[in-house]
Amino acid sequence: MIKRLRGMKDILPEEVLLWQYIEKAAKDLFALFGYGEIRTPILEEGSLFTKSIGESTDIVQKEMYAFKDKGGRHVSMRPEGTAPIVRAYIENNLDKAESLTKLYYIGPMFRSERPQAGRQRQFSQIGVEAIGSDSPYIDAEVIALIKLYLERIGLSGYTIKINTLGCSKDKTNIRKALQKFLKDKTNLLCKDCKARYKKNILRIFDCKEDGCKAVLRTAPKIIDNICSDCKDHFDNVKNALDALKVPYSVDPYIVRGLDYYTRTAFEVTHPNLGAQDAIGAGGRYDNLVRDTGGPKAGACGFALGQDRLILALGKEGSALPALGVYIAVLGEEARREGFRLCNELRSNGVSSQMDYQERSLKAQMRQANKKGSKYVAIIGEDELQKGIIVLRDMSNGTQKEIKKDSFVEEAKKALC
Ligand code: HAM
Repeated sequence: MIKRLRGMKDILPEEVLLWQYIEKAAKDLFALFGYGEIRTPILEEGSLFTKSIGESTDIVQKEMYAFKDKGGRHVSMRPEGTAPIVRAYIENNLDKAESLTKLYYIGPMFRSERPQAGRQRQFSQIGVEAIGSDSPYIDAEVIALIKLYLERIGLSGYTIKINTLGCSKDKTNIRKALQKFLKDKTNLLCKDCKARYKKNILRIFDCKEDGCKAVLRTAPKIIDNICSDCKDHFDNVKNALDALKVPYSVDPYIVRGLDYYTRTAFEVTHPNLGAQDAIGAGGRYDNLVRDTGGPKAGACGFALGQDRLILALGKEGSALPALGVYIAVLGEEARREGFRLCNELRSNGVSSQMDYQERSLKAQMRQANKKGSKYVAIIGEDELQKGIIVLRDMSNGTQKEIKKDSFVEEAKKALC
């Protein structure tokens, strides 16, 4: 039997309901904030990612699905959404239409990582990018949007951690200061950090190994090595978040695994998730548009991992839409009548289902319960003779007899 690839997943109808639910909540809320949806290709020219995410990052070094296509071109399946959106922003001259372009996206990303709970090789991100502004209010708006979104989908218990990385000049200075500090301590670092020391020194800051954490405790902090403009920017982001009552903490060790970030960087974690506890992350990337060949344009955004949102929600209980009316029938004539009614309800916008397996009334009631039906319509011989249908309220077990011809109207009333 052919099986799905490792790290890939089939999302079955019951779970898809939850996916649709959180996608709809995103679309509704993002529109309220002025974000328009963008859909970019899954396959892009490989250099788009190597240049933007960074040659020495784990994503580029180890995780990209990168290959030569039949024409010998180097292509990659997108590992993330920011770089393709910046490419699309430049290629479609979106900066000419509006000085601030606000875009959102929902879709699959691909990283060939070792699969584990919450870590897939194909996963989906829900993200936003606001391109064309340096304002700290944008950073605060983007972070506040995450809070509001998580509230809307009913996810609580998350933590937002923020940091600043400074501008590219600051980043160079911090790299140098860290290099100097660690020069005679590299033997105390883990194997990965020894490699990071040479290739991507800032990543040592977010190493989870106790030995590395201990070494870093006395290392120069990013916040103490940034210029006054970047410091002011960070203070303004924090003040704006305070004004909006967004809960956050400052974590001086957040550096992020993608090289394009400058200034604000943040991560959102959730305790339901175990080792892969980041439900989302993002930050500012003020040089990416220019470095990709576009105009100078400050930008900020985030991406939430949709698979991880579902995992976190799953343990807190979900808010799936319930079924309106389940139709339970006894006998062949009642089935004919039930079939007609079921489709009439659907034509009138009421979700409805019925039994096609000639099960007992008891089994049909069990099925109605399992599907979370709000009401059950019961049709048997008696009802057929009297020209009525029994409507049972599943929340309290009360029943009433309704004339066949006014049933749809009555059911609609009961459901609103
Ligand atoms: P990222 O931190 O690489 O950032 O990914 C964002 C989120 O995607 C993670 O927090 C996680 O929830 C989810 N994610 C990442 N890899 C996997 C995986 N293998 N399996 C399941 N979920 C995963 C970015 O991608 C940036 N583009 C975010 C951004 C947008 N920055 C600015 N704008």
